[in-house]
Amino acid sequence: MSKLVHAQWSSKMTFVLAAAGSAVGLGNIWRFSYMVGDNGGAAFVLVYLACVAVVGLPVLVAEWLIGRRGQKNPINAMAELAGKNAQPKAWALVGASGVLAAFLILSFYSVIGGWSLSYTLGSVTGTFTGQDADGVGAIFEGLLGSPGLLLLWHTAFMALVVWIVARGVTKGLEGAVRTMMPALVVLMVVLVGYGMTTGHFGEALAFMFRPDWGALSGDVVLAAMGQAFFTLSLGMGIMMAYGSYLGEDVNLLGTARTVIILDTGIALLAGLAIFPIVFANGLSAGEGPGLIFVTLPLAFGNMTGGMLLGLMFFLLLTFAALTSAISLLEPVVEFVEERTPLTRVMATLVSAVAVWLLGIAALMSFNVWPEPVMFGLNVFDLLDTFTSKILLPLTGLGAIVFVAWCLDRRSVAAELNLTGGSEQVWLVVARYVAPLGVILVFVNSLLG
Ligand code: PHE
Repeated sequence: MSKLVHAQWSSKMTFVLAAAGSAVGLGNIWRFSYMVGDNGGAAFVLVYLACVAVVGLPVLVAEWLIGRRGQKNPINAMAELAGKNAQPKAWALVGASGVLAAFLILSFYSVIGGWSLSYTLGSVTGTFTGQDADGVGAIFEGLLGSPGLLLLWHTAFMALVVWIVARGVTKGLEGAVRTMMPALVVLMVVLVGYGMTTGHFGEALAFMFRPDWGALSGDVVLAAMGQAFFTLSLGMGIMMAYGSYLGEDVNLLGTARTVIILDTGIALLAGLAIFPIVFANGLSAGEGPGLIFVTLPLAFGNMTGGMLLGLMFFLLLTFAALTSAISLLEPVVEFVEERTPLTRVMATLVSAVAVWLLGIAALMSFNVWPEPVMFGLNVFDLLDTFTSKILLPLTGLGAIVFVAWCLDRRSVAAELNLTGGSEQVWLVVARYVAPLGVILVFVNSLLG
């Protein structure tokens, strides 16, 4: 019954685009590269790839499956499916922690989206032309050091998100994703090409793919797993919500593979573009969240046609950030709308203002409020760490355990078109490998 009234994606392609629009964002370019740099390079990259394949893929499939069966928002879908399968209603908590994660992530995501907006403008005005590493570094420091500027750009980014959501043009974005995503890929390839001319490409390759296992620690593994969840938009109910609009005929495993290859491919290209520039200019790979903002402008400022390429790059990055941010705002708005008497528009505004306020605390971490507030982390790092390393993996764990252990095995296998050997592989991965992987990573990092 509910299926009749619940809208569906107009085509499979639309669904892939929407899922990819959520997945591909700042996580692939900004966050991936700085995480690689901070966590010692190749060892992190390889563990991240393993996490994507062994944990990310099954969790993505599990979230879509829950959404498609539940046909509701994540919290209600979990509650209802739990009820139908004679499981405790407490499973709805999995949906609730997703909403919390979305709220927290969007607050700092918007700050970085603001940086991207500011760099888009900077590219137009030629701010980076002819700058050396010191010059580019000083420009970035200038932005970080000014709470007023950061606030301006954070506000502008949130305003764009709200404007798009309130006008309900989210659907129209899918058309744009269709052209902008390939354009982003092409630009990344061009940047990798530039990286090859710096003479430090080999060094970058080795940094990203020749592991120094000595650099591996429990915390690096946890960071890699957190990145896998973050970049695939997992563990927050977003993919569940998308799944609720999904037709019966869509092949979940095949679609998950497509989204994952695209998402991972863009991240790896970003690394191959950024690290040659880092090494060629004697910069530090462990620069932190500013990494792409002190490296890429160097490339754009010093290559022919760089101004135009820089403009296109930051424009596309901003766009990718916007499509992800919209997917982050949605669960929060949906929650407020259902739990309060507010209308859709008011719910959007209230949610956005709350996110915006928390974002202000996050942006102050870069200037007036750098002091640690908890666990030795400042507000920005705390938000990022708590969500990616704890909330997302735990919520994702809940989703995969629920699908693998609480739903009827046969019907899940049938829904995923699995038979015989492939069903066995799914069972082993979904029941044991993925959940135990998440748990082991936690225990390991707790032990230091
Ligand atoms: N996956 C997005 C990115 O990589 C960020 C995001 C995380 C979006 C979680 C939605 C949910 O930028």
